[in-house]
Amino acid sequence: MKTKNNISLTNTQFQEKSKIFDAVRGIYINKTLRAAIKLGLFTLLQNKPLTGEEIKTALNLNGRGLFDFLDALVSLELLNRDGNGKDALYSNTEEVSLFLVKGSSQYIGWYFENKMQEFEQMWGALDKALKTGKPQRQDLKNTGKNLFEIAYDSKDKSRASVKGMNFRQMGSFKNFVKRFDFSGYNTLCDIGGGNGLFSIMVAEQHKHMKCITFDLPALDSFARDKIKENDLLDRITVVNGNFFKDDFPKTDMITMGNILHDWNLEQKKILIAKAYHALPVGGALVVIESIIDNERRKNTDGLLMSLNMLLATEGGFDFTAADFDSWVKEAGFKKTTPLSLSGDSSAVIAYK
Ligand SMILES: C[S@@+](CC[C@H](N)C(=O)[O-])C[C@H]1O[C@@H](n2cnc3c(N)ncnc32)[C@H](O)[C@@H]1O
Repeated sequence: MKTKNNISLTNTQFQEKSKIFDAVRGIYINKTLRAAIKLGLFTLLQNKPLTGEEIKTALNLNGRGLFDFLDALVSLELLNRDGNGKDALYSNTEEVSLFLVKGSSQYIGWYFENKMQEFEQMWGALDKALKTGKPQRQDLKNTGKNLFEIAYDSKDKSRASVKGMNFRQMGSFKNFVKRFDFSGYNTLCDIGGGNGLFSIMVAEQHKHMKCITFDLPALDSFARDKIKENDLLDRITVVNGNFFKDDFPKTDMITMGNILHDWNLEQKKILIAKAYHALPVGGALVVIESIIDNERRKNTDGLLMSLNMLLATEGGFDFTAADFDSWVKEAGFKKTTPLSLSGDSSAVIAYK
């Protein structure tokens, strides 16, 4: 007699892609990319596209597994390949060229490796976090400091953190700046603007806009350098401050990229209320994050990001557009609209 637990070949459940194996696949992908970084593959390919044989010689590889390694990276869209077979040429994708080639001003190889080690430690303690409700980041425990106080305790760590933020947000910023209608606005303040990347993208694309990038004093020189590099010092002002202690500058738009999810509900509401007071009637508060879908079924990245906040902060969590709508209405905003951006990221806009 067949029991419920028998695996039958006619049971369609077992003919589909295993969701459990996805977790294993995640490790394979992670380690494949990290091997490519460690071997210096992307830095090698930045000079010119190469064949498999040329890569083998230059990186002093054995040859066994070579084409599986390279073609796995192609299938993951982490390498381009022109042609098929032995004479095919491998080259870097645009994203890899920007972030994983040594010497690029945006290089994050070192940070990426450190982050991965931190994630392995922190995510390994997810069960503990769920039992205790306490963050599990090793360097945060028992220090009484928050994520940013730890991240900015040396110039090198600050620089790496800033590059990491840019890496995570560049695609969604690019999309937002192209798709949002800026015509009704002249001034913008980006709260927690890091090194000013978002303001730079807005100012480059929308010549009438004047921007303020507001962040902790620890990031002042990074923002000034980046804005100067882009020749935009006349249209972007750097303001140092603490967004819990200082008033927000008064502008037509206030933006927050990946800010609200770092904080607990009470702190989120404080930041929303400050934005409301700084905006004129008709002004817009724009939040760009990994917004979770309202039914909390689809945006795995948003839900996992929220668990990341459980592990890395005292009270942070991600949220849905409906959650945001109720918080901003409580603060006095009239209405909200969503705008989906790249990958798991979206914007939600609240109008005063
Ligand atoms: C997750 S990062 C996001 C940076 C950038 N908006 C982005 O989307 O890439 C959070 C930012 O908030 C800033 N921040 C944290 N606490 C702050 C505070 N109390 N006052 C001002 N800025 C703060 C950090 O320095 C950091 O730049």
